[in-house]
Amino acid sequence: MARALVSHLDESGQMHELLSHRARAAESSAIRDLLRHAEAPGVLSLAGGLPSAAMFPVADVKQAADCALSERSTLQYGLSEGSADLRAILAGPDGDPSRVVVTTGSQQALDLLGRVLLDPGDQIVVPDPCYVGARQALGSTGAVLVGVDGDVDGLDTDSLADRLADGLSPKAVYVVANFDNPSGAVLAAGRRRMLTALAERYGFVIIEDDPYGALRYDGTPVDDVGPASDNVVRLRTVSKTIAPGLRVGWMSGPDWLMDAAVVAKQSVDLHTSTVTQAIVGRLLGENEWLDNHLAGLRPWYRAQRDAMVEALDTDLADAEFGVPEGGMFLWVRLPGVDTTTLLRSAIETGVAFVPGSAFAVDRNLSEYLRLSFATVDRCEMSVAVDRLAESVARAA
Ligand SMILES: Cc1ncc(COP(=O)(O)O)c(C=O)c1O
Repeated sequence: MARALVSHLDESGQMHELLSHRARAAESSAIRDLLRHAEAPGVLSLAGGLPSAAMFPVADVKQAADCALSERSTLQYGLSEGSADLRAILAGPDGDPSRVVVTTGSQQALDLLGRVLLDPGDQIVVPDPCYVGARQALGSTGAVLVGVDGDVDGLDTDSLADRLADGLSPKAVYVVANFDNPSGAVLAAGRRRMLTALAERYGFVIIEDDPYGALRYDGTPVDDVGPASDNVVRLRTVSKTIAPGLRVGWMSGPDWLMDAAVVAKQSVDLHTSTVTQAIVGRLLGENEWLDNHLAGLRPWYRAQRDAMVEALDTDLADAEFGVPEGGMFLWVRLPGVDTTTLLRSAIETGVAFVPGSAFAVDRNLSEYLRLSFATVDRCEMSVAVDRLAESVARAA
């Protein structure tokens, strides 16, 4: 047996030839390797999209867990589509629970949708820059990711319309309409309507990934993308509002798509944890619990954002960025600076960020970086930005 395996070893002794094409094609990233150093003691990380642990509602989660575990069935296997109680809560009084599928975070919803929608060679439109996890989940199917630029109003739907008229034929368009990761942009109301009209005309699915919609700090909410359209599947999660460790997300969309996703989910993980579904069900099912929790969360994150903006204005006058009305990220341009090179020296200086090229599909985003204002302690925000400014000055 050992002898047979030897023939699969490469020079470094790895059995890579046994890996599937899909596994071998999976992106491994130099930036991800560099960002491992962001975890080193003393490094202030503006890199990850981690919600603030200080704001986790630990006592409420504990109490909900206690109640949930008072019923033995909470520890039993559950349905692949999710618990009936939670789905009814997530659908809301006017929604249809049968169209809701509970997922293990919205990352799993992206993976499931990739599995059931995309064959190798199919086209899928993504924003450029694009959330790395979506690029990985959707790209690992062998589908061709087609990047469409955006601006402060989100995905450029005029440009999409031109490309569709020229023969682009995507099965789906992926969009983070509220406080995009990484750009922070909100898709403007007119563009939401146009995207829905294009989906209905050309027959593609809109995958609307919405982890940040509840985290609005200023301005007025914009209507959902295609609220009544059968071409939209909407992904939501408790990761940014309650806690990501619960791994509870959900999607709602047309029956044919939800049915196929449930079949795919059966082979992926049978079902999302019954324990964390029950915890989330108790929290969200309690009258006004979420509203009260969000009422504490929003001003806290707003102050984090404002602290970062103030520090950038003071220490990094060359930085170009818009102030997002919500979410967790500032998308910053440093003219003339290669931010991937900058990251190495920034980590030495004691601060980490994600370089723009990590999010690039087709564009050159080497002068951009994403800064998260969610994780670093507010009192350390100016130190972190100071260090960033110091490494920029050294790179000049
Ligand atoms: C745009 C976007 N989609 C999906 C996810 C994954 O969220 P979850 O923890 O629900 O899997 C993230 C997490 O950062 C995200 O930013």
